Amino acid sequence: MSMLREKIASRTARVGIIGLGYVGLPLAVAFAKAGFPVTGIDIDGNKVTQINAGKSYIQDVSSHELHTLREQGKLQATSDFTVLQELDTVSICVPTPLSKTKDPDISFIASVTSKIAEHLHAEQLIVLESTTYPGTTEEFILPELTAKGLQVGVDFYLAFSPERLDPGNPHYTAQNIPKIIGGITPACTAMAQALYSQAMQKVIPVSSAKTAEMVKLLENTFRAVNIALVNEIAIMCDRLEIDVWEVIEAAATKPFGFMPFYPGPGWGGHCIPVDPFYLSWKLKTLNYKARFIELAAEVNTHMPLYVVTKLADILNEHQKSIKGSKILMLGVTYKRDVSDVRESPALDILRILQQKGANLSFYDPYVQRLEEASAHWVPLTEQTLAGADCVVIVTDHQQVDYKFVVEHAPLILDTRNATKEVRTGREKIRLL
Ligand SMILES: NC(=O)c1ccc[n+]([C@@H]2O[C@H](COP(=O)([O-])OP(=O)(O)OC[C@H]3O[C@@H](n4cnc5c(N)ncnc54)[C@H](O)[C@@H]3O)[C@@H](O)[C@H]2O)c1
Repeated sequence: MSMLREKIASRTARVGIIGLGYVGLPLAVAFAKAGFPVTGIDIDGNKVTQINAGKSYIQDVSSHELHTLREQGKLQATSDFTVLQELDTVSICVPTPLSKTKDPDISFIASVTSKIAEHLHAEQLIVLESTTYPGTTEEFILPELTAKGLQVGVDFYLAFSPERLDPGNPHYTAQNIPKIIGGITPACTAMAQALYSQAMQKVIPVSSAKTAEMVKLLENTFRAVNIALVNEIAIMCDRLEIDVWEVIEAAATKPFGFMPFYPGPGWGGHCIPVDPFYLSWKLKTLNYKARFIELAAEVNTHMPLYVVTKLADILNEHQKSIKGSKILMLGVTYKRDVSDVRESPALDILRILQQKGANLSFYDPYVQRLEEASAHWVPLTEQTLAGADCVVIVTDHQQVDYKFVVEHAPLILDTRNATKEVRTGREKIRLL
């Protein structure tokens, strides 16, 4: 058995995680809880300080958990990349955003790859977890790591393992979401599989890094396309004067061949509106147009404007215009029960309403300040609800009392069917 294999089996391998955000911190905690000594590396000094003080800034990781791991000496954080030379395994969890022109921005991966290459040593395992286009691990990372003469699959190991975390989901965590792994060589896959099976319940090896990269993009493109499909069905139902929510509920009784997706004000988060563009960009370089991805983007990015049009119609029926109307938005995060506003359609809706001269406020139990839009937070009270011309429900957080909202708001546009249980016979509620 190789030395690295032995260290992994005895859980003495020094595990490193680069990028301690929504993905990296839960992963670091999962390995530390499995008993490995874990070192997190992040350029954000504030995050490093908080972790070392046992304070969590990620909703799905408790400070109590961090504190315990700190006391046990299982977890530490640093901004010093020279620690890489002491680490046996390194998982990369840095952002992979889009540029302004919607092309992949892999500059974060590039930056950490050069740091890793600088300190790479024999018997080290490197795993990329950031979502990216098929070929990144093999075509982009591998050449830099082999430049000094170390041989992949023999001296060191390189693999891709997509992160499939679902923030805010209490049932599926880093430990129990099955982990896909694809190495550059079979030995790389086996080494990464050996490591991840120590901390995760199920590991699924695939034949290559490229396959593993594509698995993630299939999953998220599947979601993007189905969200777009159901959004378009919602628009069609509106024209046909049919309740789309009733249609979906009834269709979902089919025990096979149908999986319910729900319409909404658009798409959001760091993944679904971003990842499919990584795939379409790669295909463009191969002279192929990813039509479903482009169409899904067109439909989903149009939804915020659709919501505003719907709102204008509702106000119009009450002899009001958007300009000057008091609009209270309920929920600004991209999905329910999380505090993340990245790419949230709420931001687009607020921007359009602001341009049209609306008087904007918002309530969200998870967010009290919005730097991305000029709306101020208000508490959810009888007065704030009654004082609005229209309340727009954009995120259906479970802790909001929708009965209370329905009782006091004069007019409601519900883009998420959040008022389902409390709206019988209420004329003042409109659905998407
Ligand atoms: N957030 C999710 O739900 C989710 C789910 C699945 C996959 N992903 C993917 O995981 C990756 C990370 O996403 P995230 O949401 O955790 O991002 P994030 O922004 O929450 O965290 C990234 C962290 O990397 C750090 N960082 C940036 N550049 C660095 C560098 N050069 N060296 C060290 N640290 C650096 C940042 O300071 C930040 O703490 C992305 O590719 C994303 O697409 C995210």
